Amino acid sequence: MSTIECRRLRKDYVRGEETIHTLQDVDVDVDSGDFVALMGPSGSGKTTLLNLLAGIDSPTGGTIRIGGTDIATLRRGELAAWRSTHVGYIFQLYNLVPVLTAYENVELPLLLHPVGADERHRRVSEALELVGLANRHAHYPRQLSGGQEQRVAIARAIVTNPTLILADEPTGDLDKASAQQVMDLLVRLNRERGQTIVMVTHDAATAARARRTVHLEKGQIVDAAAHAGAHG
Ligand SMILES: Nc1ncnc2c1ncn2[C@@H]1O[C@H](COP(=O)(O)OP(=O)(O)O)[C@@H](O)[C@H]1O
Ligand SMILES: [Mg+2]
Repeated sequence: MSTIECRRLRKDYVRGEETIHTLQDVDVDVDSGDFVALMGPSGSGKTTLLNLLAGIDSPTGGTIRIGGTDIATLRRGELAAWRSTHVGYIFQLYNLVPVLTAYENVELPLLLHPVGADERHRRVSEALELVGLANRHAHYPRQLSGGQEQRVAIARAIVTNPTLILADEPTGDLDKASAQQVMDLLVRLNRERGQTIVMVTHDAATAARARRTVHLEKGQIVDAAAHAGAHG
């Protein structure tokens, strides 16, 4: 069974008289351990699809099963609980809390879980270690480079050991070297920890580091390609 199964997924936005058909009958399957790059022109519905997978937004029609749960049927509170266990989200502009240290930012999602203080400390330290920032744990976001901020955000996304990582243009605001580091990290999470990832990107070279690419155009999937050498 796939980790993600979307069937005839539709999302309409109504603005005044106008209805925008942002996603139209989208079918997507993502297996456990896959790493999918989602590409497409601006406005094609990439962020909308990611937000539906994250349970941040709800579909107009169709079904989304993730890890066997049809998330469209969950109530608001159930959905919030589901999301905190199953989804790690990485944003283009990191979205760290500016008044919290790197350590406290990574700790934040764990505070929603019944995890004791010792275990929490162990997991936060391990996540910061994994992204190579153990020595920056007391730094505030403004004291970090963009690339370091994004690595803190990745630590925050993985600290709960989620079923799925969703990333919306995670290297879109980074210089080449930092982007490379972030991609190295995502590839490692996928290869070494079997982490399932769906990542939006504009950049073909970035997409080539995923296992396969799905193309969206005007709210529809146009084709899907597997990569020959999947770790370039
Ligand atoms: N909350 C919203 N309200 C109204 N329209 C929206 C909303 N979110 C997205 N859209 C519209 O849906 C389309 C796809 O947007 P989006 O998913 O952000 O595209 P992408 O991430 O591929 O650039 C755009 O035309 C956008 O204007
Ligand atoms: Mg977008």
